[in-house]
Amino acid sequence: MTRKILVTSALPYANGAIHIGHLVEYIQTDIWVRFQKSRGHTCHYVCADDTHGTPIMLRAEKEGISPEALIARVHGEHSRDFAGFHVGFDNYYSTNSEENSHFAGTIYRQLKDNGKIVSRTINQLYDPVKNMFLPDRFVKGECPKCHAKDQYGDNCEVCGATYSPTELINPFSAVSGATPELRESEHYFFKLGDCESFLKGWTTTPGKLQAEAANKMQEWFESGLSDWDISRDAPYFGFEIPDAPGKYFYVWLDAPVGYMASHKNLCDRLGLDFDEYWKKDSSTELYHFIGKDILYFHALFWPAMLEFSGYRTPTAINTHGFLTVDGAKMSKSRGTFITAESYLNHLNPEWLRYYFAAKLSNTFEDIDLNFEDFAARVNSDLIGKFVNIASRAAGFISKRFAGQLASELGQVELLNRLQAASESIAQHFEAREYSRAIREIMALTDEVNQFVDLHKPWEMAKQEGREQDLQQVCSILINAFRILTIYLKPVLPKLASDVEAFLNVAPLQWQDAQTLLTNHTINTYNHLMTRIDPKQIEAMIEENKQALPAPAEAPAAAPSYEIPAISETINIDDFMKVDLRIARIANAQHVEGAEKLLQLTLDLGNETRNVFAGIKSAYKPEDLIGKHTVMVANLAPRKMKFGLSEGMVLAAGGDGGLYILEPHDGAKPGMRVK
Ligand code: 2FM
Ligand code: ZN
Repeated sequence: MTRKILVTSALPYANGAIHIGHLVEYIQTDIWVRFQKSRGHTCHYVCADDTHGTPIMLRAEKEGISPEALIARVHGEHSRDFAGFHVGFDNYYSTNSEENSHFAGTIYRQLKDNGKIVSRTINQLYDPVKNMFLPDRFVKGECPKCHAKDQYGDNCEVCGATYSPTELINPFSAVSGATPELRESEHYFFKLGDCESFLKGWTTTPGKLQAEAANKMQEWFESGLSDWDISRDAPYFGFEIPDAPGKYFYVWLDAPVGYMASHKNLCDRLGLDFDEYWKKDSSTELYHFIGKDILYFHALFWPAMLEFSGYRTPTAINTHGFLTVDGAKMSKSRGTFITAESYLNHLNPEWLRYYFAAKLSNTFEDIDLNFEDFAARVNSDLIGKFVNIASRAAGFISKRFAGQLASELGQVELLNRLQAASESIAQHFEAREYSRAIREIMALTDEVNQFVDLHKPWEMAKQEGREQDLQQVCSILINAFRILTIYLKPVLPKLASDVEAFLNVAPLQWQDAQTLLTNHTINTYNHLMTRIDPKQIEAMIEENKQALPAPAEAPAAAPSYEIPAISETINIDDFMKVDLRIARIANAQHVEGAEKLLQLTLDLGNETRNVFAGIKSAYKPEDLIGKHTVMVANLAPRKMKFGLSEGMVLAAGGDGGLYILEPHDGAKPGMRVK
């Protein structure tokens, strides 16, 4: 029976690059979709950029462009990266679309008509400089529990405490640095608690959620479902709420609606029946692939929104774990925060597709990209075992038989076994147990290689009168290779299409594994895949280390050092008593026995001074020689343990570091500073 299936992956935010952590999900989903298509089902894979919200609005502002320009650019970058990894969306759209505005508004109105929306006044921190309410992540301050400085408004990265931003000590706006004020605002809420009995039934329906997700649900039900704040105040980049001017849908309200919008856009383009997929009790299937961090949105908010606005609910939510690299969280400084773009600069995307497939199961378990294992596995499985079959057989077929495969394969036991494995492998793909599918395919690949070793075509080639045997053995191998290619095609679509060109056949479908190629002319074999050279991996990691953002890119924040109070007021005459001069540091050296001091020889144009300066913790003498600075030239000489100090150099400092002053280019020794 042909199924009608709609599949989604989570919509990536339109303010950041796709990285290999994201790719676990897109590759996982793409493999599943390609598998379904290969089985002959009607399957659509839709996605979009998640374009709304404060971070995107502020990012555009920082870049000096409109949010629309930012999301258009990022849409191009994301589309390019996904195509690079052969992620074959049927539609890659945007949540900032007509369709999405329509469905978000419709769903909201229906929820409201069903009594699921309430409004009430809340207190929220407000940035009086930027004139905006601050999302929790944009308020920083001292943790109320452990007193760590510079912590976000929702949780402390040092002690793990969670709290509300109003509990932070000395809070400041991460946008402007201003001290936020508590202000009132009317907000709209989705009454999730009212949906509890529906959600309890839905989430416990077999097949909807994995076991780990069902357990999580239990915890969430036990701690109680609270109303969900779905509105935000202007300025906000998003959709205005239909009957509430100045109020906008919170980005997470219209994000999942983006699945519908992208599908609607596809249906309109292809003349498909959108309602057939989204109407209540639809017989089509709907699957959302997501990461475990966004389960709450997809297993609670989203089904409840759909149910109480008159639409169908998902067939299942397929949740995966996170990616670690070499056993640790991806890290910018270690160079393991690898963007899709930089991966593609160095490595073949199908290597990663294969490696992820070889590790993925249908659980929440995190998967690790271990680079040594990655190279070993790809080189041994894909090159050493799989591609090797074709390269061992193809030469003889082209050179000795003009590319012609035997008309009789004779001994086909091996091929029978390969064909018989089809349903078992298919079940593993269907169940998202890709690692099992790969294990089974690789075990078959081993059998094929044993067959080669047993029949030794290279020896047959040297023996008189064994032409027919040679053609038959090589034709069996080509057939085995073709069947294995069919099984690997969801994982390796580009390689499979190169194999189809080499075999001179139409695009292969799952069912084609049950037929054999005889009396058929194949094309000359060109090498299908190269081995991973560890140097390529090193170069990629190096490139990602170099790409570390400059510190200036960090969000503007209030200082994390103490600012001393300003001293009492003086008049200009008082100031003019201090004779400040430009000095060239003619020499700088360590002072034996002094922990903090450097000895400086300062050139004032027509005289030199000897000064002991307490800057050893911040500067190496050799880095100072030749530089210009500012000194107090009329300070009374002071006799110190190490000699006479004839002035002092100016430096900014405190608990935030020590920085000597340096004039702009052109200032000459002896010039007065005032
Ligand atoms: O967590 C995220 O990256 C979100 N942009 C995912 C949205 S998925 C869907 F609901 F739109
Ligand atoms: Zn803390």
